[in-house]
Amino acid sequence: MILLFPGSFDPPTCGHADIIKRASQLCDKLYVGVLVNIKKQCLYPVEKRVEMLRRISAVYSNVEVIAFDGLLADAAKKFGADALIKGLRNSADYQYERDMAQINMALAGVETLYLQADQSRTAVSSSVVRELLAFNGDVAGFVPECIIDLL
Ligand code: PNS
Repeated sequence: MILLFPGSFDPPTCGHADIIKRASQLCDKLYVGVLVNIKKQCLYPVEKRVEMLRRISAVYSNVEVIAFDGLLADAAKKFGADALIKGLRNSADYQYERDMAQINMALAGVETLYLQADQSRTAVSSSVVRELLAFNGDVAGFVPECIIDLL
């Protein structure tokens, strides 16, 4: 089975790293898809987000980090994904993801699978990390140690 884990990853967090680890154990191949976001101004350029995710994924032989632009449904077809995989932290995530899953099913016939976020990581998000970075807060514990020097 081929899975695609998409996101902005601006920057990747410990929550993302946990999903990558657990999803990689469930499939033959896991693509981590980094959105080249033309609408949203990202803090980190796509090349840097890809580099961070490659460091995080280096220990898993079946994980490949790719960048995509445009529709996720098209990326799923391009990379032959049997399913998309997302992490769910709370009911707000679920509401949003449920709608996206319907759209992606309609566009590409692709299923969306969910992993429940580790309970110790439900408050961690890329936006919280960006806020901490903006005010020189300590992000250790919220992002994987291997990418701290890139932040
Ligand atoms: O980490 P994020 O920002 O929550 O990830 C969101 C992502 C990349 C999964 C979502 O923005 C996405 O799928 N973008 C691609 C455009 C698309 O297919 N949109 C849905 C149909 S309108």
